[in-house]
Amino acid sequence: MTEFQTRGVSAGAGSGPAARRAGIGLVFLGPPGAGKGTLAKTLQARAGLRHISPGDILRQAVRDHTEYGRRALTFMRTGDLVPDEIVDAMMQAALAQAEDGSGWVLDGYPRTTAQADLLDGFLASRLGTLSAVVHFEIGEDILLRRLTGRRLCPICGAIYHVDYRPPRSAGRCDLDGAELVARRDDAPDTALHRFRVFHAQTAPLIDHYRCRGLLLTVNAEQSTEDLYDVIWEAVRPPRATPLP
Ligand code: AP5
Ligand code: MG
Repeated sequence: MTEFQTRGVSAGAGSGPAARRAGIGLVFLGPPGAGKGTLAKTLQARAGLRHISPGDILRQAVRDHTEYGRRALTFMRTGDLVPDEIVDAMMQAALAQAEDGSGWVLDGYPRTTAQADLLDGFLASRLGTLSAVVHFEIGEDILLRRLTGRRLCPICGAIYHVDYRPPRSAGRCDLDGAELVARRDDAPDTALHRFRVFHAQTAPLIDHYRCRGLLLTVNAEQSTEDLYDVIWEAVRPPRATPLP
């Protein structure tokens, strides 16, 4: 956690309207299965941060049979990144909704330097400040176990694991009772391909954000509870000083 130096860096926002917004802005950067979605949902529930996940948005577009969803599916099936043109259009809409409120977590965005540049433009013009880029560091053997045991609720998106986070009733969502499903891209061959894609196309962003003093590297092998505490302690707004 030594690289994280600066709170509230904005991409050239100066003193414009974006600079005046004070919410927490986080980017979650890490390989498939690192726990980004689980942590983002926890931050949403406990701290009120808006969880924005291009993966979830794309899966919804596939279920809705939209044109973007149809085109994205070809790439998602193989574990490749969806072309920027599609992701950019979807993220523009999602990011516009994040302008107000107590803050946001971008879970799996940006994943390329081109996406990082687009995000900088959004930060400067509308979104406000980027508090930190949380880099989830974790061994590949653990990742594979997490992905092959992951189950999702197709209705509410809750994330489970057959061993690490089992539902109360086997195969059923605790929240709405729906039958849990496995993600098709969690099949071992596709998961391994996604690891390669991460190293080739997304890992360069680690240095990109380290150079800007925004990188907060965390040990993602610890429990979700401990991870939450580490991240929240680093990024939470400073406590008000009690009056004497
Ligand atoms: P996306 O859905 O974002 O997948 P990903 O980045 O590969 O990450 P995952 O969702 O697989 O893992 P996670 O880190 O969220 O882990 P989780 O919390 O679920 O993207 C899917 C696809 O969409 C991409 O392949 C690409 O095609 C496309 N796409 C998305 N974004 C894109 C972009 N920006 N540009 C282009 N294309 C894009 O946890 C995993 C499991 O581990 C769960 O079972 C969970 O219960 C368990 N677990 C979590 N934390 C812990 C813990 N601390 N201890 C024990 N178990 C844990
Ligand atoms: Mg996820």
